[in-house]
Amino acid sequence: MSNQIESVKELIKLREKARLGGGQKRIDSQHQKGKYTARERIAMLLDGGSFEEFDMFVTHRCTNFGMQDSTFLGDGVVTGYGTIDGRLVYVFAQDFTIFGGSLSESFAMKICKIMDQAMKMGAPVIGLNDSGGARIQEGVNALAGYAEIFQRNILASGVVPQISAIFGPCAGGAVYSPALTDFNIMTKGTSYMFLTGPKVVKTVTGEDVTQEELGGASVHASKSGVVHFAVDTEEDGLKLIRKLLSYLPQNNLEEAPLQPCNDPIDRLEDTLNDIIPDSPNKPYDMYQVIGGIVDNGEFLEVHKEYAPNMIVGFARFNGMSVGIVANQPKILAGCLDINSSRKAARFVRFCDAFNIPIVTLVDVPGFLPGTQQEYGGIILHGAKLLYAFGEATVPKVTVTLRKSYGGAYCVMSSKHLRGDINYAWPTAEIAVMGPSGAIEVLYGKETAAAEDPVKFATEKEREYRAAFANPYNAAKYGYIDDVIEPRNTRFRVIRALQQLATKKLVNPAKKHDNLPL
Ligand code: HXC
Repeated sequence: MSNQIESVKELIKLREKARLGGGQKRIDSQHQKGKYTARERIAMLLDGGSFEEFDMFVTHRCTNFGMQDSTFLGDGVVTGYGTIDGRLVYVFAQDFTIFGGSLSESFAMKICKIMDQAMKMGAPVIGLNDSGGARIQEGVNALAGYAEIFQRNILASGVVPQISAIFGPCAGGAVYSPALTDFNIMTKGTSYMFLTGPKVVKTVTGEDVTQEELGGASVHASKSGVVHFAVDTEEDGLKLIRKLLSYLPQNNLEEAPLQPCNDPIDRLEDTLNDIIPDSPNKPYDMYQVIGGIVDNGEFLEVHKEYAPNMIVGFARFNGMSVGIVANQPKILAGCLDINSSRKAARFVRFCDAFNIPIVTLVDVPGFLPGTQQEYGGIILHGAKLLYAFGEATVPKVTVTLRKSYGGAYCVMSSKHLRGDINYAWPTAEIAVMGPSGAIEVLYGKETAAAEDPVKFATEKEREYRAAFANPYNAAKYGYIDDVIEPRNTRFRVIRALQQLATKKLVNPAKKHDNLPL
């Protein structure tokens, strides 16, 4: 056998060894926990046969604690590139079968390499996390590795989409790489994220808490808002990444791909002409409105379980990808509060960074009052949403369905925050505040002194409603471009988006903004 044939055989053997990660026993143990291996995950994520791996032969360089005698090809992370629906993506998947997926200096450099490559090529980065954190034997070199990744997450933010899936442990400072990315996905039951685990919590605060209660998928999806999507299985999570990317451009200089659309653009949705209840205090379901107007009723909701008084997510109008921001009158009457303001602000800023037009559906009675909100800083958090809408230069189409009162009117992509097209339904009520509050302020004394206070207040409310609780007062000043028939909303929004397709608007040059944090 020639030397060359020998060397090729050696290569094939090494590749097989690398593909086995930490060995069959650890692969079996991974499967027993209901988890896939790093390579299995990548195979499910990418288009069949598209994966090209980098750095399969990298090993760690640590000599502490006898580590020189314990090396594995690839060193615990599988990195490379491939395609999703034919579009280039870069991916890393932490391999729990090697040192528990813990991060060494070499491991970090592998991730940094694909991140640098993604920035040069202008393609998304997907990270599949399943790791015991910093590799303890490496000490500060592991910490340095994390910080190198964080730095790249920061520079890539707003340049290429970054998506993290957490399919196992993600603890300590390791959580900050996902936190810096655009979207986080967690699997229920098999993943957790926290800065300090249950044992440290018990020592420091005396609190008894399980891993799941402290940092499980449901907790982060509904309470902390750290996670945008909680999924039942890894397969669901990987399919979700593919779907999410279909709404996004490859980078901040491109636009999202146009999909073929078989839903007629002039489809009338008759149910919308009768969806607003007669009583202003009765709710209706904003999901019905969204489902009725977008292409084929398809809506990819982001942060579904967090701050549900605000709905955000991706949909299409005539094949164009858009971000939808909508108040949900069914929850807290659709009020703006701290969490909903933060949630929507982050979403609006993502859309703006990646050239995705924003369609805003408004039914908002105002900001949620109370000490809890004030002490929690609703002034600053509400300002985030105001800031996000005001700085956004993408096409902005706003439809006011019913209430739009006070500061919330200004915030929700109003004309004054450079809303491009602002429509209202005939049921819209646009005013400084709702009728009962306004009459209390304006006629409190007179109401108390009246012979029949209820009759007096009702009459004054009727007058106020006639003057302000309609869209025509705002339309009179051009703050509303047109009052539209609700069932025709889909068509009018599509027309508006088509008109705005060539929009060019640039904010003043600056080093960076000073968003109220
Ligand atoms: C080195 C590690 C490791 C780590 C796990 N392993 N974590 N090796 N550094 N951080 C190794 C184990 O020794 C074991 O090796 C293999 O990975 C699998 O781990 P097990 O403990 O057997 O698995 P399991 O029972 O499933 O428990 C997983 C775990 C646990 C919960 C993640 O391993 C654990 O608590 N690890 C330590 C977590 C931690 O404290 N990390 C540091 C966080 S601080 P063998 O050879 O037996 O298979 C941090 C700072 C980051 O990360 C700062 C960034 C700025």
